[in-house]
Amino acid sequence: MALASFIFALLCVSELSTDKAFSQVAPNAVCSCQEAYTSEDGTTTVVLQLPKTSTAVSTGNKSLSELDKLKQNYQKQAQMLSSQGLLLMQQAKQIQQIELELQDLKLSISKPPADCQDLLVSGNTPISDSQITASSMYNSDHGPAHSRLYTNMDNHIVGSWSARTNDNKQWLQFDFGRVRKLTAILTKGRNQIAQFVKTYQIHYGNNTLLMKGYRDGTGSVKIFQGNIDLDNIHENVLNPPVYARYLRINPLTWYGHISVRADVLGC
Ligand SMILES: *[C@@H]1O[C@H](CO)[C@@H](O)[C@H](O)[C@H]1NC(C)=O
Ligand SMILES: *[C@@H]1O[C@H](CO)[C@@H](O)[C@H](O)[C@H]1NC(C)=O
Repeated sequence: MALASFIFALLCVSELSTDKAFSQVAPNAVCSCQEAYTSEDGTTTVVLQLPKTSTAVSTGNKSLSELDKLKQNYQKQAQMLSSQGLLLMQQAKQIQQIELELQDLKLSISKPPADCQDLLVSGNTPISDSQITASSMYNSDHGPAHSRLYTNMDNHIVGSWSARTNDNKQWLQFDFGRVRKLTAILTKGRNQIAQFVKTYQIHYGNNTLLMKGYRDGTGSVKIFQGNIDLDNIHENVLNPPVYARYLRINPLTWYGHISVRADVLGC
């Protein structure tokens, strides 16, 4: 009499165990609850399989016990619907949050102006090694010239600039020779060895004694997300761009050691 069918639903659970969250959403339903995946921010996505009872309608008079069964089925369905309502409300909340995150993401992946994307450090007209300087170097094999984006480890060549010490006073500086419009920062970690800069700030100016921090909307010196691995380029668009001769990258947090390769887009 009851036709077996199932409702599949996705439920995002944050800061709650799967079971707890499920019992909140569908307190009375018997159901299988499977973890589908856990994303980076710790949010677990769970696949719920809710049984849905459906009643076959028959003609003619029904016995009392049949009527009772029908009534129970309807009650079950009502319960199920209210559980689904809760589930939908929860999903709506999740979607709202995802939309906000997408907005942030859109800002951070906004592209620099198409006509101002020359590689100012190592592009067609590269700056010289002497125009790349740093607060310190691990030793002379790890000097600032090793910070060119394309540097790879090869025999004795070290695949990045590495600071002497790991603290938040280190910097890598590019002198573009004259004032340029700077539209994005590109960074990579160290080739072959697990070291990279996770977050950094930048300072810029026309005189190395008067460098300005690049600020965010709230007026604090902006913290840029850096790398999460060794060889992929992470790009941060400067929106708005800056006009300056010098640019300094100041690592704030790092993995393994302060080691970075970088270039600057601009014109
Ligand atoms: C149901 O039972 C009632 C009372 O016995 C009768 O009057 C009625 O015609 C029946 N209905 C059907 C559809 O058989
Ligand atoms: C550098 O000089 C240029 C041109 O004189 C000026 O537009 C720009 O604002 C200066 N940058 C800084 C950071 O002072």
